[in-house]
Amino acid sequence: MSEACSGCSSTAQGGCGGSGAQDLEAMAAQKRLKDNLARIRHRIVVMSGKGGVGKSTVAANLAAGLALAGKRVGLLDVDVHGPSIPRLLCLDQSKVDVEGDLIKPVMWGDNLKVMSLGFFLPNGQQAVIWRGPVKIGFIQQLVGDVEWGDLDYLIVDCPPGTGDEPLSAVQLLNPGAHALVVTTPQAVAIDDVRRSLGFCAEIGIPVLGLVENMSGIVCSQCGNIEELFGKGGGEALAKEMAVPFLAALPLDPQVVRSGDEGWVYIKHHPERPTALALRPVIDAALGLDAAKA
Ligand SMILES: Nc1ncnc2c1ncn2[C@@H]1O[C@H](COP(=O)(O)OP(=O)(O)O)[C@@H](O)[C@H]1O
Ligand SMILES: [Mg+2]
Ligand SMILES: [Zn+2]
Repeated sequence: MSEACSGCSSTAQGGCGGSGAQDLEAMAAQKRLKDNLARIRHRIVVMSGKGGVGKSTVAANLAAGLALAGKRVGLLDVDVHGPSIPRLLCLDQSKVDVEGDLIKPVMWGDNLKVMSLGFFLPNGQQAVIWRGPVKIGFIQQLVGDVEWGDLDYLIVDCPPGTGDEPLSAVQLLNPGAHALVVTTPQAVAIDDVRRSLGFCAEIGIPVLGLVENMSGIVCSQCGNIEELFGKGGGEALAKEMAVPFLAALPLDPQVVRSGDEGWVYIKHHPERPTALALRPVIDAALGLDAAKA
């Protein structure tokens, strides 16, 4: 006879046995998380002080770039506020499969596995209001219950800011995680990126580097890069905070078009200035693997 437990949702034979079984379930979840992480050589958490700076764009193109370089890559979109990775990789019609207890990631090409909250939402719907603990449980689940397999890299598109959500995402992946901090010239000016870098120092996560996005604009006529907001703020700050400055990425209208029209920027435009400027970011990630090999 199976009876629903009043303490949890279990209807397993004989009930769940109360809190003891809940503890067991939590322990099992922890173990799955640990086992999964043990099979991932490098974890890179892409973060930013605020939204709209191009964090997802950088995460998606970094992940695709590593995959195109032959690495086994996972891309995990835990930005519950705006899961945009499916769209950026042209996977927004995809839905996830669940096999037994395991969630199967969506494939982009042969060696990039993608998981996003977006895959679970009805098409086009993004506004979900989640309470803190639900979000954090969800993040844990997307690391522990997804069939990532053996990966060289897991790239994580974090929620923006320095609050509870990015903190819990980083803590799940630490030790052994690296941060990639994305900012813009304007955000440097308002000190927002200083907070992000301070956050990394506080929680003890090494910074792979700083990327200044929307740094000038690629002219649609001649391809020259025009400065819009002044240059060098990100680089100076990186120097001051003793973290590598990896790239200044100009605004490229093709980045917006690719996101909207269903092709992946770094794959279709590898010779555009912004794609070339992304190379050192990909190389820095590749360097982690070379150092460990
Ligand atoms: N270098 C760039 N050139 C042109 N558009 C960009 C660039 N980086 C980001 N964008 C655009 O800016 C918007 C916000 O980028 P997104 O990656 O979604 O930011 P975030 O994840 O930080 O909120 C998107 O429409 C994206 O296409
Ligand atoms: Mg985003
Ligand atoms: Zn021009």
